[in-house]
Amino acid sequence: MSRELQTASARIPRVEELLSQMTLLEKAGQMSQHSWGFGSDDEAREYIAAGKLGSVLNAPSLEERNRLQQLALESRLGVPLVFGRDVIHGYKTIFPIPLALASSFDVGLAERTARAAAQEAAEVGIDWTFAPMVDVTRDPRWGRVAESFGEDPHLTAAMGVASVHGFQGRSPDEPGRIAACAKHFAGYGATESGKEYNTTWIPETQLRDVHLPSFQACVQAGVMTLMTGFNDLNGVPASGNAFLLRRILKGEWGFLGAVVSDWASMLEMIQHGSCADDTDVARVAASAGVDLEMASRTYLKHLPRLVEAGLVPLELVDDAVRRVLRLKHELGLFEHPFSKPPVTSVALSAEHLALAREAAQRSMVLLKNDGALPLAKSSRSVAVLGPLADAPLEQLGCWSYDGTLEAAVTPLSALRARLGQGVRVEHVAGLPDCRSSDESGIQAAVDAALAADVTLLFVGEPANLSGECRSRAFLDLPGSQGELCARLAATGKPLVLVVMAGRPLTIGEVCAQANAVLYAWHPGTMAGPALADVLLGDVAPSGKLPISFPRTVGQVPVYYAHKNTGRPPKQDRKQIPTGTPLDPTDFDASYLDVEVTPEFPFGFGLSYAKFEYDQLEVTPNQARAGDAIRIRVQLRNASDVPGDEVVQLYVHDRVGSLTRPVRELKGFQRVSLAPGERKCVEFTLTTDALGFCGADMVGRAEPGEFQIFVGGDSRAPLGGALVLV
Ligand code: BGC
Repeated sequence: MSRELQTASARIPRVEELLSQMTLLEKAGQMSQHSWGFGSDDEAREYIAAGKLGSVLNAPSLEERNRLQQLALESRLGVPLVFGRDVIHGYKTIFPIPLALASSFDVGLAERTARAAAQEAAEVGIDWTFAPMVDVTRDPRWGRVAESFGEDPHLTAAMGVASVHGFQGRSPDEPGRIAACAKHFAGYGATESGKEYNTTWIPETQLRDVHLPSFQACVQAGVMTLMTGFNDLNGVPASGNAFLLRRILKGEWGFLGAVVSDWASMLEMIQHGSCADDTDVARVAASAGVDLEMASRTYLKHLPRLVEAGLVPLELVDDAVRRVLRLKHELGLFEHPFSKPPVTSVALSAEHLALAREAAQRSMVLLKNDGALPLAKSSRSVAVLGPLADAPLEQLGCWSYDGTLEAAVTPLSALRARLGQGVRVEHVAGLPDCRSSDESGIQAAVDAALAADVTLLFVGEPANLSGECRSRAFLDLPGSQGELCARLAATGKPLVLVVMAGRPLTIGEVCAQANAVLYAWHPGTMAGPALADVLLGDVAPSGKLPISFPRTVGQVPVYYAHKNTGRPPKQDRKQIPTGTPLDPTDFDASYLDVEVTPEFPFGFGLSYAKFEYDQLEVTPNQARAGDAIRIRVQLRNASDVPGDEVVQLYVHDRVGSLTRPVRELKGFQRVSLAPGERKCVEFTLTTDALGFCGADMVGRAEPGEFQIFVGGDSRAPLGGALVLV
């Protein structure tokens, strides 16, 4: 047996005992998951009764789960089922989408929202969620960017780990905890051209520096399961990728948990052209290290024969079954296989709604403000316009099918409630929905704006334009929303734009027309109250962008941690007046028709407060491997309102054996400051954090000079220096 397998096989007496009694078919059953509603559910019941299924995805209710569990317990060995479901950004109470949560740069918040989601799911018998998604992505065309934590490996890892802690707690068999699943291993976020399910080509050094650290961090945090991706990585589908699963995950990282395939992704290896038929699929996936097959049945059909024929070693099958049984053991399913309806449900409790409101407040990003926000207390009439002002379903975002629609409070209803009798609130949608090009309602919106002191315009994307299989090649506001915005801007009345979307949109033009722009993402159940809090100034916006916003699709991918190139741009946009002679000394890495910088950079976000940074100190400024480096900065709130600032620490390795990104995020802290308050913010950096994967695939920090930057976004000018000797 390989070293990888030996390290991975944690021996638990109950598991060993069961394993010793199992037939090959029962083992294949433990390695199979039925997806409720796909294929025959009656057949699945028969399989469960015969001890030939280990898990069920999306069983419809607590009662059904208990009935299925009863069948499993009555089977020959009585191994309980484990029930999975996608509980991604909330169950009944819907929290902001993950990309929004990442904008909070608040790991405590990510942990608390995951915990609340786990509590609501656990009380209806869900044991296991398929979250967090820790795919790093730099492509807003990809619909799943909504479900990601954005473009940065450090931020993604931090949010991923916090989510794992929130779902699993110290132990997932505690009441109100469920098993987490870091997905999609690996590289799915690099999908070529932003097209869903597309090929990924990632050099190993980049894979190890950018795409794997978030998964490794989740493994170190004790995540119980991982899911493979739909993508093929460098020619090998992730669900049959022994390099990823056996060598890195189970070998180098010593992962003891279970690997589940994505939905039918094993079977899709036939379409990828890497397997001939479903026998081949079972052989390839089992050999590569997929422990549990989601939705398809190739293991059940073929694995026993493959083992008998010597084509798949029995040790590999035993290792996979051990992992699945260990998951059930750690979830406490052998002791508590059934779920009881709660005496008092926590779903949509006042506490969870308050948390949803807080999470939404903290994740909104103020992109522009000429003073139009917060709304003046003197406003006597407000025009609440746009197709998303009163669209409860859309504000919930992409993974909200269990969310309670009736609980969603829209901006219109919250503003009406908050502004009370003294302020006239006029609502006109202007467009039938945000994808519509029917402009017949725009004039009514214009009339409402003309009659009001200020216009709040709610535009963006509906929930179903982001998420899985929702790639877009254009990133502008869909339908006639751009026209609606232009017509309202032309009224000359103050215009505040609130954008709700599941991805960065190319909104430079509409931003230029508005007085203020608040990017709210899809904020969830409590979108309305949270928006009212921010727009009315009870809470200052504090979110920062976890992903760069392109000016135009043609810039994609545009991200802050890019390389310098041999000819960094001399100016943001190349100017070539007609007739300009060829001048090779002026050739640089720029565009002729658009600036080279993004519309809004990573880490960017305004507040009603104003923050000033100074006195950056790096001690020691000559460090040796293993030293702790202290980086301190003075932060001051130079305004008369309280606010939170996300202080960000970036590093640039000036000379490397491989070229290094111009900046890399290495730390962040959310700091609350009263008006006029000054605080010293301190980071401790280990020299390990300065390392990267070298050409020999070994990670290490190389001696030399490093630049250190601290500030409020990825362009932070305040710098210091460090030498690693
Ligand atoms: C998605 C996964 C999800 C799974 C189960 C797949 O289509 O890619 O992220 O967890 O379905 O619903």
